[in-house]
Amino acid sequence: MESPSRGGVFDEGTDARVLRFSESVRFDLRLFRHDIRGSQAHAKMLARQGLLTTQECQAICETLDEIGGELAAGSLPLKIELEDIHMHVEQALIDRLGDTGRKLHTARSRNDQVSTDTRMWIRDALDRTAELLLELQRAFLGRCEADRDVIVPAYTHLQRAQPVLAPHYWLAYIEKFQRDRQRIADCRKRVNQCSLGVAAVAGTTLPIDRQQTANALGFTGITRNSLDTSSDRDFVLESAFVLSVVATHLSGWAEEWILWSSAEFGFIQCPQAFCTGSSIMPQKVNPDVLELTRGKSARVIGNLQTLLVLVKGLPMAYNRDLQEDKEPIFDSFDTVHACLELAAPLVAGARLQRERIEASIEQGYLDATTLMEQMIRQGMPQRRAHHLVGAIVGEAMKRRVTLAELPLEAMQHHAPELDASIKECLGTRQAIKAFRSEGSTGPQQVDQQIAFWAKELQSDEATRAQ
Ligand code: ARG
Repeated sequence: MESPSRGGVFDEGTDARVLRFSESVRFDLRLFRHDIRGSQAHAKMLARQGLLTTQECQAICETLDEIGGELAAGSLPLKIELEDIHMHVEQALIDRLGDTGRKLHTARSRNDQVSTDTRMWIRDALDRTAELLLELQRAFLGRCEADRDVIVPAYTHLQRAQPVLAPHYWLAYIEKFQRDRQRIADCRKRVNQCSLGVAAVAGTTLPIDRQQTANALGFTGITRNSLDTSSDRDFVLESAFVLSVVATHLSGWAEEWILWSSAEFGFIQCPQAFCTGSSIMPQKVNPDVLELTRGKSARVIGNLQTLLVLVKGLPMAYNRDLQEDKEPIFDSFDTVHACLELAAPLVAGARLQRERIEASIEQGYLDATTLMEQMIRQGMPQRRAHHLVGAIVGEAMKRRVTLAELPLEAMQHHAPELDASIKECLGTRQAIKAFRSEGSTGPQQVDQQIAFWAKELQSDEATRAQ
């Protein structure tokens, strides 16, 4: 069988090795629903423009439905001679309708077709990503109430820094995933422009109506320049970038919970259904899902790199190189979706190890900064207060006591102006209560943020991440 795209200009058939080398149907089969839908919209537009009769259009649309059904059932045989999904659909149509089928490709090229199909596929995939992110945000929010009073250390440089309420962490993740959803919404705007009708590269001399097809396919508009459109894969790059940031956020979270679930931290217990055992060490309960989530970010970031290098230096406009965009972008979506599908139930099912956290929370002088700020409030210059608290912490370390346990006289030895009221901000529970700036871990601030997100993530608008 010879490819329908080989016109009369060819005297020779295609080398079998070239067919194997260049086929893409193996992976772009995934575009078939979008290809069918795009072809039907194209046919209807052609009919309205007088380029097809109503009967021809009807026959084409019905037969395309039939072909779509066979592709969904896996009963349409795939042949590498037909290269890609677009030619499979068209050839099946021609096999069934003859010359009527041969009219579908009027004012269309696979160049604008593949771009449109990919845009529609990515649009659906982005919507799924946003939906899964919302579920994950809701899982974090769901933890806030139950963990409301647990105090955990906040770290900088992975050294104990200041005390925070556990929900402050959960809210921090909600923020990150909110930005991811905003990036998706923004990227989707540029994905959601219709390429159909730019044909191969220069447009067409035939009287098509691009706006019609764009509307029928749910695009918000049409791309402006045919040359740009034929070459443009920014929408693939942007999606790959957005997914890389999601994967990076997931990886950071996974890393944190891997640490937190170690015996050294002992802060959290992952649900057993999300852990695996060791084939040799019977006592082990390993956080493999978290490790794989961290590990899989590598391929998502790698795919972004692949795509950037792929398009770098391509002359305008369509080049066959662009066929190589599918596997990386499909893989990025598959990978991120797989991670997100597990992340939400894992977050919901994990348990904080309250006793373990409590037992070590007074270690590390988490209240030192609060003490310093108390001294500033009493009129001491920050640099002097910083220095004095350093000396006071040093003294407490020497005596192996917490700041709350250190006698007032020992503090006064370093800073004679201190009085008994200074003790009120000491101890992590007291220290937490002293926070008041917007966005801080103060109980009031945290409660406000919980209330904000409870409303935000419940509303219909949440799905649009404005
Ligand atoms: N399979 C091709 C791709 O994914 C479709 C476009 C082919 N166009 C062409 N002129 N050979 O990019």
